[in-house]
Amino acid sequence: MPRSVSLATTIAGSSLTSCLYNASGPLCTTSEELDALGNSEAGAILSKSATLEPRAGNPEPRYVETAWGSINSMGLPNEGYRYYLEYARRAQSFGKPYFMSVSGLSHDDNIEIVRALAGEAAISAIELNLSCPNVPGKPQTGYDFEQSRALLERIFEYVDQPLGVKLPPYFDLPHFDMMAAVLNDFPIAFVTCVNSIGNGLVIDVQAESVVIKPKSGFGGIGGDFIKPTALANVRKFYTLLREDIAIIGCGGVKTGEDAFEHILCGASAVQIGTQLMREGVDCFARIAGELSTIMQAKGYRDIDSFRGKLKSLD
Ligand code: DHB
Repeated sequence: MPRSVSLATTIAGSSLTSCLYNASGPLCTTSEELDALGNSEAGAILSKSATLEPRAGNPEPRYVETAWGSINSMGLPNEGYRYYLEYARRAQSFGKPYFMSVSGLSHDDNIEIVRALAGEAAISAIELNLSCPNVPGKPQTGYDFEQSRALLERIFEYVDQPLGVKLPPYFDLPHFDMMAAVLNDFPIAFVTCVNSIGNGLVIDVQAESVVIKPKSGFGGIGGDFIKPTALANVRKFYTLLREDIAIIGCGGVKTGEDAFEHILCGASAVQIGTQLMREGVDCFARIAGELSTIMQAKGYRDIDSFRGKLKSLD
């Protein structure tokens, strides 16, 4: 990375030496995977979304790569929140923030988890997942604005650490306004835009079949195709949310140029999902190098020099 360029950022009061880190989901479920993130150039460690109790998740195959990205219906396989709470102590040795993703199966579960995390200083922030599309019978809270408000009202009675939310992608302009009106009423530290585009379908033409087993083949779409949707969500929430709410971009990032675009739209940090699955933790150093090269060529010394400064044509 050229010396004159800094990729440093601040999220929820925590300093990150690189604005690039993992999306919750890929390669962040076991302590070995979390250690690999700790030892990599990722700017932070974010855990797999945790439920109250450990879960095996949906039947396999449940994650398939395509030429343009991925489809998944994992079904929240995770070790249960106690495991990720305990891991917080170990995470401290890496000298970077440790964020915990929480995705209880009910509002009560979410409350119980955030209450149990209270007082643990080694958890730098909580990313509350409002957007898991893969558990049959459990609608995404983020598509129900009243439910989102009701959950946040209860969460903020109990939460101790700074809290952000992981949002699903929105597609209709009034929906951005409605969700922003909810979020602006709470002391939210950040929003992460976006989770996978829910319930897509990938087909193997030769076999005339779906490619993943759960939910008749329906699953969350990640990768190249979701970048324009992700950028639109980052941009919209950057313009609609209070200035103190940081935006974290997620969706379709596989190069430094993709990360540059997210930051230009307003992202203070950028998460990597499908490409992390494909490439492993080396993606963080590679993408950081590419982003630094672009910044140096443009004369930007840090990400605040261009963050949010997307130009329009009028
Ligand atoms: C899973 C998928 C998601 O997109 C998410 O936000 C949480 C969990 C899963 O299927 O495990």
